[in-house]
Amino acid sequence: MISSKSQSDSVTDMTEYVLPQHANALGNVFGGQIMAWVDLCAAICAQRHSGRMAVTAFMDDVKFQQPVKVGEVVRLRARMTATFRTSMEIEVVVEGEDSRTLRRWPCVRARLVFVAIDEAGTPTPVVPMLLDTEEVKKSQAEGEARRRARLERAGS
Ligand SMILES: CC(C)(COP(=O)(O)OP(=O)(O)OC[C@H]1O[C@@H](n2cnc3c(N)ncnc32)[C@H](O)[C@@H]1OP(=O)(O)O)[C@@H](O)C(=O)NCCC(=O)NCCS
Repeated sequence: MISSKSQSDSVTDMTEYVLPQHANALGNVFGGQIMAWVDLCAAICAQRHSGRMAVTAFMDDVKFQQPVKVGEVVRLRARMTATFRTSMEIEVVVEGEDSRTLRRWPCVRARLVFVAIDEAGTPTPVVPMLLDTEEVKKSQAEGEARRRARLERAGS
């Protein structure tokens, strides 16, 4: 039985090519399409950490910084930022890339909360993230503060 898992065990990278069906009339990828990829990337990260199916419980506000256009590439990286009892906070960093020049630019930074569920769909405990570096300890502490604020806002 594993008692904790390191942050690096669940880091998840995805690369998507922007096609016309992903974009609006200006040729920019839809925000909703980016969020669908963000959700998917974070879900894989949550499942890698928990070894369970995991559902999206919450998404923080997101700001779209710069567009990505048809023919360009969307790069996503999800990493566990904190673990709680049955829930996990995951950050997804999204960049645009021109694959001909390798120029990259920031697109979105999103935080999501996933809940691990068992076969009956009931929230189930996850192993804690291994707090093996000062950076990971800080990430966990900051995640706990954000969690308190979220649950206060949700009135739970
Ligand atoms: C997410 C869900 C499983 C939580 O169920 P619940 O009955 O509220 O369960 P609990 O009260 O036991 O809470 C479970 C965990 O969710 C967390 N949670 C619930 N609402 C939350 C919110 N708004 N923000 C952050 N965390 C939340 C709780 O803090 C708890 O975490 P913890 O065990 O680490 O302390 C349930 O609301 C659900 O199924 N929602 C729909 C999910 C979904 O369909 N997502 C989109 C498609 S995947």
